[in-house]
Amino acid sequence: MPELTRRRLLIGGAGAGVVGALGVGGVVGWNQLGSSSPVTASSDAVARAEAARRSAGQKLVTARLTPRPLTADLGGLTVDTWGYGDAVPGPVIRAAAGDLLRITVDNELPTETSVHWHGLALRNDMDGVPGMTQDPIPAGGRFTYEFTAPDPGTYFYHPHTGVQLDRGLYGALVIDDPAEPGDYDAEWIVLLDDWVDGTGRTPDQVLEQLLAGGMDHGGMAMGGMGGMGGMGEGMQSALLGGAGDVDYPHYLVNGRTPEAPATLTAEPGQRVRIRFVNAGSDTAFRVALGGHRMTVTHSDGFPVRPAETDALLIGMGERYDVLVTVGDGAFPLAAAAEGKQGRGLAIARTGKGGRPGTDRPAELDRRILTGADLAALEDVRLSSKRPDRTHRVAIAGAMAPYRWTINGRPFPDAESLPVTEGERVRLRFENHSMMFHPMHLHGHTFGLTRGGARKDTVIVRPMQTVEVELDADNPGQWATHCHNIYHAEAGMMTALSYQA
Ligand code: C2O
Ligand code: CU
Repeated sequence: MPELTRRRLLIGGAGAGVVGALGVGGVVGWNQLGSSSPVTASSDAVARAEAARRSAGQKLVTARLTPRPLTADLGGLTVDTWGYGDAVPGPVIRAAAGDLLRITVDNELPTETSVHWHGLALRNDMDGVPGMTQDPIPAGGRFTYEFTAPDPGTYFYHPHTGVQLDRGLYGALVIDDPAEPGDYDAEWIVLLDDWVDGTGRTPDQVLEQLLAGGMDHGGMAMGGMGGMGGMGEGMQSALLGGAGDVDYPHYLVNGRTPEAPATLTAEPGQRVRIRFVNAGSDTAFRVALGGHRMTVTHSDGFPVRPAETDALLIGMGERYDVLVTVGDGAFPLAAAAEGKQGRGLAIARTGKGGRPGTDRPAELDRRILTGADLAALEDVRLSSKRPDRTHRVAIAGAMAPYRWTINGRPFPDAESLPVTEGERVRLRFENHSMMFHPMHLHGHTFGLTRGGARKDTVIVRPMQTVEVELDADNPGQWATHCHNIYHAEAGMMTALSYQA
Protein backbone atom coordinates (compact mmCIF):
# COMPACT_ATOMS: atom_id res chain seq x y z
CA MET A 1 0.00 0.00 0.00
CA PRO A 2 2.34 2.70 -1.21
CA GLU A 3 -0.20 5.48 -0.68
CA LEU A 4 -0.61 4.70 2.96
CA THR A 5 3.08 4.37 3.47
CA ARG A 6 3.68 7.75 1.97
CA ARG A 7 0.86 9.23 3.91
CA ARG A 8 2.25 8.02 7.17
CA LEU A 9 5.60 9.41 6.18
CA LEU A 10 4.15 12.82 5.49
CA ILE A 11 1.73 13.04 8.35
CA GLY A 12 4.28 11.73 10.76
CA GLY A 13 6.68 14.46 9.76
CA ALA A 14 9.37 13.46 7.37
CA GLY A 15 12.02 13.83 10.02
CA ALA A 16 10.58 11.23 12.33
CA GLY A 17 11.37 7.90 10.87
CA VAL A 18 11.52 7.33 7.21
CA VAL A 19 13.85 10.10 6.16
CA GLY A 20 15.71 9.71 9.37
CA ALA A 21 18.73 11.72 8.35
CA LEU A 22 16.77 14.95 8.23
CA GLY A 23 17.04 16.19 11.75
CA VAL A 24 17.98 19.73 12.72
CA GLY A 25 20.83 20.65 10.49
CA GLY A 26 20.30 17.40 8.67
CA VAL A 27 20.86 17.04 5.00
CA VAL A 28 18.03 17.46 2.58
CA GLY A 29 19.62 14.79 0.53
CA TRP A 30 16.95 13.31 -1.66
CA ASN A 31 18.36 15.23 -4.55
CA GLN A 32 21.97 16.01 -3.97
CA LEU A 33 23.35 17.15 -7.28
CA GLY A 34 26.85 16.61 -8.57
CA SER A 35 29.56 17.79 -6.26
CA SER A 36 27.56 20.63 -4.77
CA SER A 37 26.06 20.19 -1.34
CA PRO A 38 22.91 21.67 0.14
CA VAL A 39 23.09 24.77 2.32
CA THR A 40 21.29 23.39 5.35
CA ALA A 41 19.39 25.25 8.05
CA SER A 42 22.36 24.98 10.42
CA SER A 43 24.93 26.28 7.95
CA ASP A 44 26.97 29.44 8.42
CA ALA A 45 25.28 31.02 5.43
CA VAL A 46 21.93 30.98 7.28
CA ALA A 47 23.46 32.55 10.39
CA ARG A 48 25.19 35.15 8.22
CA ALA A 49 21.95 36.10 6.47
CA GLU A 50 20.26 36.58 9.83
CA ALA A 51 23.18 38.60 11.21
CA ALA A 52 22.75 41.01 8.29
CA ARG A 53 19.12 41.59 9.31
CA ARG A 54 19.92 42.38 12.91
CA SER A 55 20.57 45.88 14.12
CA ALA A 56 21.83 47.51 17.27
CA GLY A 57 18.96 48.44 19.54
CA GLN A 58 16.62 46.09 17.71
CA LYS A 59 13.32 45.79 19.51
CA LEU A 60 12.44 42.41 20.99
CA VAL A 61 8.84 41.23 20.66
CA THR A 62 7.90 38.12 22.59
CA ALA A 63 4.87 35.89 22.33
CA ARG A 64 3.78 32.46 23.45
CA LEU A 65 1.74 29.93 21.52
CA THR A 66 0.15 26.89 23.09
CA PRO A 67 -1.18 24.46 20.51
CA ARG A 68 -3.65 22.28 22.39
CA PRO A 69 -6.98 20.52 22.21
CA LEU A 70 -9.87 22.84 22.98
CA THR A 71 -13.61 23.14 22.73
CA ALA A 72 -14.40 26.11 20.52
CA ASP A 73 -17.64 28.02 20.10
CA LEU A 74 -17.75 28.94 16.43
CA GLY A 75 -21.13 30.66 16.71
CA GLY A 76 -24.00 28.23 17.14
CA LEU A 77 -21.54 25.43 16.53
CA THR A 78 -19.41 23.99 19.28
CA VAL A 79 -16.56 21.73 18.24
CA ASP A 80 -13.73 19.82 19.78
CA THR A 81 -10.66 20.82 17.86
CA TRP A 82 -7.05 21.92 18.17
CA GLY A 83 -6.12 25.57 18.44
CA TYR A 84 -3.57 28.00 19.80
CA GLY A 85 -4.72 28.77 23.32
CA ASP A 86 -8.39 29.26 24.06
CA ALA A 87 -9.95 30.27 20.78
CA VAL A 88 -10.00 29.94 17.00
CA PRO A 89 -8.18 31.67 15.37
CA GLY A 90 -5.06 31.99 17.52
CA PRO A 91 -3.84 35.33 18.86
CA VAL A 92 -2.71 38.09 16.51
CA ILE A 93 1.06 38.44 16.68
CA ARG A 94 2.23 41.92 15.82
CA ALA A 95 5.63 43.55 15.44
CA ALA A 96 7.34 46.11 13.23
CA ALA A 97 9.72 45.45 10.37
CA GLY A 98 13.23 44.99 11.75
CA ASP A 99 12.05 43.73 15.13
CA LEU A 100 13.33 40.53 16.64
CA LEU A 101 10.52 38.10 17.39
CA ARG A 102 10.89 35.47 20.07
CA ILE A 103 7.95 33.10 20.12
CA THR A 104 7.86 30.19 22.50
CA VAL A 105 5.72 27.26 21.42
CA ASP A 106 4.55 24.86 24.12
CA ASN A 107 3.14 21.82 22.42
CA GLU A 108 0.19 20.54 24.44
CA LEU A 109 -1.17 18.52 21.53
CA PRO A 110 -1.18 14.73 21.79
CA THR A 111 1.15 14.66 18.80
CA GLU A 112 4.08 16.50 17.28
CA THR A 113 3.73 19.87 15.63
CA SER A 114 5.66 22.85 14.21
CA VAL A 115 4.96 26.51 13.44
CA HIS A 116 5.60 28.10 10.06
CA TRP A 117 5.59 31.89 9.59
CA HIS A 118 3.88 32.01 6.25
CA GLY A 119 5.27 34.58 3.82
CA LEU A 120 8.14 35.89 5.92
CA ALA A 121 11.64 35.94 4.41
CA LEU A 122 13.16 34.83 7.69
CA ARG A 123 16.17 32.75 8.67
CA ASN A 124 15.88 29.24 7.32
CA ASP A 125 16.32 27.41 10.64
CA MET A 126 13.21 29.18 12.02
CA ASP A 127 10.97 28.40 9.03
CA GLY A 128 9.19 25.61 10.86
CA VAL A 129 9.28 22.76 8.36
CA PRO A 130 9.98 19.44 10.10
CA GLY A 131 12.37 17.28 8.14
CA MET A 132 13.64 20.27 6.20
CA THR A 133 14.55 22.99 8.69
CA GLN A 134 14.01 21.49 12.14
CA ASP A 135 12.92 18.44 14.07
CA PRO A 136 9.22 18.29 14.88
CA ILE A 137 8.24 19.64 18.29
CA PRO A 138 7.20 16.49 20.17
CA ALA A 139 4.03 16.22 22.23
CA GLY A 140 4.80 17.97 25.49
CA GLY A 141 7.86 19.63 23.98
CA ARG A 142 8.87 23.25 23.62
CA PHE A 143 10.56 25.13 20.80
CA THR A 144 11.47 28.81 20.75
CA TYR A 145 11.43 30.53 17.40
CA GLU A 146 13.63 33.60 17.19
CA PHE A 147 14.06 35.62 14.02
CA THR A 148 14.13 39.10 12.57
CA ALA A 149 11.05 40.08 10.58
CA PRO A 150 12.52 41.81 7.55
CA ASP A 151 9.51 43.06 5.62
CA PRO A 152 6.26 44.71 6.65
CA GLY A 153 3.00 43.11 5.65
CA THR A 154 0.12 40.79 6.40
CA TYR A 155 1.22 37.24 7.15
CA PHE A 156 -0.04 34.28 9.15
CA TYR A 157 1.27 31.36 11.12
CA HIS A 158 0.26 27.71 11.07
CA PRO A 159 1.72 24.23 11.64
CA HIS A 160 3.70 22.61 8.87
CA THR A 161 2.82 19.17 10.11
CA GLY A 162 0.29 16.94 8.38
CA VAL A 163 -3.09 18.55 7.87
CA GLN A 164 -3.08 20.33 11.26
CA LEU A 165 -3.72 23.64 9.50
CA ASP A 166 -7.23 22.39 8.71
CA ARG A 167 -8.02 22.33 12.40
CA GLY A 168 -8.11 25.60 14.33
CA LEU A 169 -4.36 26.04 14.26
CA TYR A 170 -3.77 29.38 12.57
CA GLY A 171 -3.48 33.04 13.43
CA ALA A 172 -2.57 36.39 11.89
CA LEU A 173 0.96 37.78 11.94
CA VAL A 174 1.11 41.49 11.17
CA ILE A 175 4.40 43.25 10.56
CA ASP A 176 3.93 47.01 10.62
CA ASP A 177 5.95 49.39 8.49
CA PRO A 178 7.59 52.04 10.68
CA ALA A 179 7.98 54.18 7.54
CA GLU A 180 4.38 53.92 6.36
CA PRO A 181 2.17 57.00 6.46
CA GLY A 182 -0.74 54.79 7.59
CA ASP A 183 -3.45 56.78 5.88
CA TYR A 184 -6.28 54.84 7.42
CA ASP A 185 -8.38 55.28 10.55
CA ALA A 186 -9.25 51.72 11.48
CA GLU A 187 -8.02 48.23 10.73
CA TRP A 188 -9.88 44.96 10.39
CA ILE A 189 -8.03 41.66 10.29
CA VAL A 190 -10.17 39.13 8.47
CA LEU A 191 -9.20 35.46 8.57
CA LEU A 192 -11.09 33.14 6.23
CA ASP A 193 -11.37 29.42 6.84
CA ASP A 194 -13.12 26.30 5.63
CA TRP A 195 -14.23 24.16 8.53
CA VAL A 196 -14.78 20.44 9.05
CA ASP A 197 -13.03 19.48 12.30
CA GLY A 198 -15.30 18.31 15.09
CA THR A 199 -18.32 17.92 12.81
CA GLY A 200 -18.06 14.14 12.54
CA ARG A 201 -14.61 13.80 11.02
CA THR A 202 -11.17 15.24 11.47
CA PRO A 203 -8.94 16.59 8.71
CA ASP A 204 -6.82 13.46 9.10
CA GLN A 205 -9.88 11.36 8.33
CA VAL A 206 -10.69 13.56 5.34
CA LEU A 207 -7.18 13.00 4.02
CA GLU A 208 -7.41 9.29 4.65
CA GLN A 209 -10.65 9.20 2.72
CA LEU A 210 -9.18 11.12 -0.19
CA LEU A 211 -6.15 8.84 -0.29
CA ALA A 212 -8.33 5.77 -0.07
CA GLY A 213 -10.91 6.66 -2.64
CA GLY A 214 -10.42 10.02 -4.21
CA MET A 215 -13.70 10.86 -5.88
CA ASP A 216 -14.93 7.34 -5.30
CA HIS A 217 -18.19 7.54 -3.44
CA GLY A 218 -17.49 4.13 -1.99
CA GLY A 219 -15.18 5.88 0.40
CA MET A 220 -17.95 8.10 1.58
CA ALA A 221 -19.71 5.44 3.56
CA MET A 222 -16.80 5.42 5.92
CA GLY A 223 -15.64 7.99 8.37
CA GLY A 224 -18.98 9.34 9.47
CA MET A 225 -19.63 11.56 6.50
CA GLY A 226 -23.32 11.43 7.25
CA GLY A 227 -25.25 14.17 5.56
CA MET A 228 -22.24 15.68 3.87
CA GLY A 229 -22.31 16.45 0.21
CA GLY A 230 -20.11 14.52 -2.15
CA MET A 231 -16.41 15.04 -2.40
CA GLY A 232 -14.68 16.16 -5.52
CA GLU A 233 -17.75 16.43 -7.67
CA GLY A 234 -19.47 19.55 -8.84
CA MET A 235 -16.94 21.85 -7.20
CA GLN A 236 -16.32 23.83 -10.34
CA SER A 237 -15.70 27.53 -10.71
CA ALA A 238 -15.75 29.65 -13.83
CA LEU A 239 -12.69 31.45 -12.46
CA LEU A 240 -10.69 28.49 -11.20
CA GLY A 241 -11.94 25.30 -12.85
CA GLY A 242 -11.75 22.44 -10.35
CA ALA A 243 -12.14 24.42 -7.16
CA GLY A 244 -11.57 21.91 -4.39
CA ASP A 245 -11.73 18.36 -3.13
CA VAL A 246 -13.56 18.82 0.15
CA ASP A 247 -17.14 19.96 0.51
CA TYR A 248 -16.96 21.68 3.89
CA PRO A 249 -20.02 21.99 6.11
CA HIS A 250 -18.97 25.45 7.36
CA TYR A 251 -17.07 28.52 6.28
CA LEU A 252 -15.76 30.88 8.93
CA VAL A 253 -14.74 34.50 9.15
CA ASN A 254 -12.61 35.15 12.23
CA GLY A 255 -13.67 31.83 13.68
CA ARG A 256 -17.42 32.48 13.41
CA THR A 257 -20.16 30.91 11.32
CA PRO A 258 -22.61 33.12 9.38
CA GLU A 259 -25.27 32.25 11.97
CA ALA A 260 -23.44 34.23 14.66
CA PRO A 261 -20.96 36.34 12.72
CA ALA A 262 -18.14 38.49 14.00
CA THR A 263 -18.78 42.24 13.98
CA LEU A 264 -16.19 44.69 12.67
CA THR A 265 -16.68 48.29 13.68
CA ALA A 266 -15.66 51.76 12.54
CA GLU A 267 -17.17 55.26 12.32
CA PRO A 268 -19.10 56.29 9.20
CA GLY A 269 -16.79 57.86 6.63
CA GLN A 270 -13.64 56.38 8.08
CA ARG A 271 -10.99 54.79 5.91
CA VAL A 272 -10.57 51.20 6.95
CA ARG A 273 -7.66 48.95 6.08
CA ILE A 274 -8.84 45.37 5.77
CA ARG A 275 -6.19 42.68 6.00
CA PHE A 276 -7.56 39.51 4.39
CA VAL A 277 -5.90 36.15 5.06
CA ASN A 278 -7.11 32.93 3.48
CA ALA A 279 -6.27 30.30 6.08
CA GLY A 280 -8.48 27.72 4.39
CA SER A 281 -7.07 24.35 3.40
CA ASP A 282 -9.04 23.56 0.23
CA THR A 283 -11.12 26.67 -0.53
CA ALA A 284 -10.55 29.88 -2.42
CA PHE A 285 -12.76 32.71 -1.22
CA ARG A 286 -14.41 35.48 -3.20
CA VAL A 287 -14.78 38.42 -0.85
CA ALA A 288 -16.83 41.59 -1.07
CA LEU A 289 -18.19 44.26 1.24
CA GLY A 290 -21.83 45.01 0.45
CA GLY A 291 -22.42 48.56 -0.76
CA HIS A 292 -18.73 49.33 -1.17
CA ARG A 293 -15.87 49.13 -3.58
CA MET A 294 -12.46 48.15 -2.29
CA THR A 295 -9.06 49.49 -3.27
CA VAL A 296 -6.44 46.77 -3.19
CA THR A 297 -3.15 48.13 -1.84
CA HIS A 298 -1.06 45.07 -0.95
CA SER A 299 -0.77 41.48 -2.08
CA ASP A 300 1.00 38.96 0.16
CA GLY A 301 2.34 41.86 2.22
CA PHE A 302 3.87 43.86 -0.62
CA PRO A 303 2.45 47.08 -2.08
CA VAL A 304 0.71 47.06 -5.46
CA ARG A 305 -0.46 49.86 -7.67
CA PRO A 306 -3.82 50.66 -6.05
CA ALA A 307 -6.62 48.86 -7.89
CA GLU A 308 -10.32 49.33 -7.31
CA THR A 309 -12.68 46.39 -7.41
CA ASP A 310 -16.04 45.07 -6.23
CA ALA A 311 -14.77 41.64 -5.26
CA LEU A 312 -11.47 39.89 -4.74
CA LEU A 313 -10.54 36.24 -5.25
CA ILE A 314 -8.19 34.90 -2.57
CA GLY A 315 -6.49 31.53 -2.86
CA MET A 316 -5.34 29.49 0.12
CA GLY A 317 -2.26 31.10 1.63
CA GLU A 318 -2.79 34.43 -0.15
CA ARG A 319 -3.24 37.72 1.71
CA TYR A 320 -4.57 41.02 0.45
CA ASP A 321 -4.84 44.42 2.06
CA VAL A 322 -7.58 46.74 0.85
CA LEU A 323 -8.78 50.22 1.75
CA VAL A 324 -12.46 51.05 2.05
CA THR A 325 -14.21 54.25 3.00
CA VAL A 326 -17.12 52.92 4.97
CA GLY A 327 -20.68 54.20 4.73
CA ASP A 328 -23.21 54.57 7.51
CA GLY A 329 -24.97 51.39 8.57
CA ALA A 330 -24.42 47.66 8.74
CA PHE A 331 -22.98 45.81 5.75
CA PRO A 332 -22.25 42.17 4.94
CA LEU A 333 -18.60 41.30 4.53
CA ALA A 334 -19.10 38.09 2.58
CA ALA A 335 -16.60 35.39 1.72
CA ALA A 336 -18.16 33.05 -0.83
CA ALA A 337 -16.50 29.64 -1.10
CA GLU A 338 -15.44 29.74 -4.75
CA GLY A 339 -16.99 26.89 -6.71
CA LYS A 340 -18.63 25.46 -3.61
CA GLN A 341 -21.88 25.87 -1.73
CA GLY A 342 -21.81 28.19 1.22
CA ARG A 343 -19.94 31.20 2.45
CA GLY A 344 -18.46 32.94 5.40
CA LEU A 345 -19.77 36.19 6.77
CA ALA A 346 -18.84 39.03 9.08
CA ILE A 347 -20.87 42.18 9.75
CA ALA A 348 -19.23 45.53 9.13
CA ARG A 349 -20.97 48.04 11.32
CA THR A 350 -20.63 51.80 11.56
CA GLY A 351 -24.14 52.71 12.59
CA LYS A 352 -27.10 51.32 14.42
CA GLY A 353 -29.71 48.91 13.16
CA GLY A 354 -30.02 45.18 12.81
CA ARG A 355 -28.39 42.81 10.42
CA PRO A 356 -27.87 43.95 6.85
CA GLY A 357 -30.71 43.17 4.45
CA THR A 358 -28.72 40.58 2.55
CA ASP A 359 -25.90 38.21 3.38
CA ARG A 360 -24.91 37.88 -0.26
CA PRO A 361 -23.93 41.28 -1.63
CA ALA A 362 -24.32 41.92 -5.37
CA GLU A 363 -20.67 43.01 -5.44
CA LEU A 364 -19.67 39.33 -5.36
CA ASP A 365 -20.80 39.03 -8.98
CA ARG A 366 -19.42 42.27 -10.36
CA ARG A 367 -15.78 42.99 -11.10
CA ILE A 368 -13.60 40.32 -9.49
CA LEU A 369 -9.91 40.97 -9.12
CA THR A 370 -7.21 38.31 -8.78
CA GLY A 371 -3.51 38.50 -8.02
CA ALA A 372 -2.69 38.30 -11.73
CA ASP A 373 -4.49 41.62 -12.32
CA LEU A 374 -2.17 43.58 -10.05
CA ALA A 375 1.12 45.39 -10.69
CA ALA A 376 3.90 45.81 -8.17
CA LEU A 377 4.44 49.30 -6.86
CA GLU A 378 7.58 50.78 -8.38
CA ASP A 379 9.86 50.47 -5.35
CA VAL A 380 9.17 46.78 -4.80
CA ARG A 381 9.34 45.77 -8.45
CA LEU A 382 12.15 43.32 -9.20
CA SER A 383 14.97 44.90 -11.17
CA SER A 384 14.98 43.69 -14.73
CA LYS A 385 17.64 41.08 -15.10
CA ARG A 386 18.08 37.94 -17.13
CA PRO A 387 17.41 34.83 -15.10
CA ASP A 388 20.56 32.88 -14.29
CA ARG A 389 18.48 29.77 -13.97
CA THR A 390 15.00 28.65 -14.87
CA HIS A 391 13.22 25.80 -13.16
CA ARG A 392 10.23 24.15 -14.67
CA VAL A 393 7.76 23.22 -11.94
CA ALA A 394 5.20 20.96 -13.57
CA ILE A 395 2.30 20.30 -11.25
CA ALA A 396 -0.05 17.43 -11.89
CA GLY A 397 -2.22 14.89 -10.24
CA ALA A 398 -5.51 13.15 -10.02
CA MET A 399 -8.30 12.25 -7.64
CA ALA A 400 -8.10 8.48 -8.11
CA PRO A 401 -5.62 7.56 -6.98
CA TYR A 402 -5.27 10.74 -4.95
CA ARG A 403 -1.74 11.70 -5.83
CA TRP A 404 -0.24 15.09 -6.60
CA THR A 405 3.20 15.59 -8.02
CA ILE A 406 5.88 18.13 -8.90
CA ASN A 407 7.81 17.29 -12.06
CA GLY A 408 6.25 13.84 -12.03
CA ARG A 409 7.07 12.80 -8.50
CA PRO A 410 5.38 13.18 -5.14
CA PHE A 411 7.23 14.59 -2.12
CA PRO A 412 9.56 13.48 -0.67
CA ASP A 413 10.62 11.72 -3.87
CA ALA A 414 10.24 14.89 -5.92
CA GLU A 415 13.50 16.40 -7.11
CA SER A 416 14.41 19.58 -5.32
CA LEU A 417 15.13 22.73 -7.29
CA PRO A 418 18.80 23.67 -6.90
CA VAL A 419 19.83 27.34 -6.81
CA THR A 420 22.96 29.23 -5.87
CA GLU A 421 22.98 32.32 -3.68
CA GLY A 422 23.03 35.49 -5.76
CA GLU A 423 21.19 34.09 -8.73
CA ARG A 424 18.08 35.49 -10.37
CA VAL A 425 15.82 32.45 -10.58
CA ARG A 426 12.78 31.97 -12.72
CA LEU A 427 10.16 29.42 -11.72
CA ARG A 428 7.80 28.26 -14.40
CA PHE A 429 4.70 26.75 -12.78
CA GLU A 430 2.96 24.58 -15.36
CA ASN A 431 -0.38 23.22 -14.29
CA HIS A 432 -1.14 19.94 -16.05
CA SER A 433 -4.26 19.24 -14.04
CA MET A 434 -7.88 20.31 -14.13
CA MET A 435 -7.77 21.94 -10.69
CA PHE A 436 -6.29 25.23 -9.60
CA HIS A 437 -3.27 25.22 -7.29
CA PRO A 438 -2.12 28.14 -5.13
CA MET A 439 1.64 27.61 -5.33
CA HIS A 440 3.59 28.90 -2.36
CA LEU A 441 7.33 29.43 -1.84
CA HIS A 442 8.89 29.82 1.59
CA GLY A 443 11.50 32.40 2.53
CA HIS A 444 11.14 34.63 -0.54
CA THR A 445 8.74 36.96 -2.26
CA PHE A 446 8.75 36.43 -6.00
CA GLY A 447 7.61 38.82 -8.67
CA LEU A 448 5.12 37.83 -11.32
CA THR A 449 6.90 38.46 -14.61
CA ARG A 450 6.30 41.68 -16.57
CA GLY A 451 6.00 43.87 -13.50
CA GLY A 452 3.27 41.87 -11.82
CA ALA A 453 2.69 41.83 -8.08
CA ARG A 454 5.26 40.66 -5.58
CA LYS A 455 3.82 37.55 -3.96
CA ASP A 456 4.69 34.34 -2.19
CA THR A 457 1.57 32.44 -3.18
CA VAL A 458 0.17 32.47 -6.69
CA ILE A 459 -2.92 30.86 -8.16
CA VAL A 460 -2.18 28.64 -11.16
CA ARG A 461 -5.35 27.78 -13.03
CA PRO A 462 -6.01 24.46 -14.80
CA MET A 463 -3.61 23.97 -17.73
CA GLN A 464 -2.17 27.44 -17.15
CA THR A 465 1.51 28.41 -16.94
CA VAL A 466 2.58 31.16 -14.54
CA GLU A 467 6.14 32.46 -14.46
CA VAL A 468 7.67 34.17 -11.46
CA GLU A 469 11.15 35.41 -10.64
CA LEU A 470 13.06 35.80 -7.44
CA ASP A 471 16.46 36.80 -6.20
CA ALA A 472 18.12 33.94 -4.38
CA ASP A 473 19.21 35.98 -1.38
CA ASN A 474 18.08 33.86 1.56
CA PRO A 475 20.18 30.70 1.84
CA GLY A 476 18.72 27.46 3.07
CA GLN A 477 16.25 24.76 2.16
CA TRP A 478 12.84 26.23 1.36
CA ALA A 479 9.64 24.31 0.94
CA THR A 480 7.63 25.11 -2.15
CA HIS A 481 4.24 23.51 -2.45
CA CYS A 482 0.59 23.80 -3.24
CA HIS A 483 -1.25 25.52 -0.41
CA ASN A 484 -4.14 23.15 -0.82
CA ILE A 485 -3.04 21.30 2.28
CA TYR A 486 -4.45 18.00 1.01
CA HIS A 487 -2.51 18.32 -2.23
CA ALA A 488 0.66 19.16 -0.32
CA GLU A 489 0.17 16.14 1.92
CA ALA A 490 -0.47 13.93 -1.10
CA GLY A 491 2.85 14.96 -2.63
CA MET A 492 2.63 18.38 -4.25
CA MET A 493 5.70 19.75 -2.54
CA THR A 494 9.43 20.07 -3.10
CA ALA A 495 12.27 22.34 -1.98
CA LEU A 496 14.07 25.30 -3.42
CA SER A 497 17.47 24.03 -2.43
CA TYR A 498 20.44 26.39 -2.08
CA GLN A 499 23.66 24.67 -3.01
CA ALA A 500 27.15 25.65 -2.01
CU1 C2O B 1 1.52 28.39 4.63
CU2 C2O B 1 4.47 25.83 3.49
O1 C2O B 1 3.01 27.09 4.04
CU1 CU C 1 -3.00 21.94 -5.35
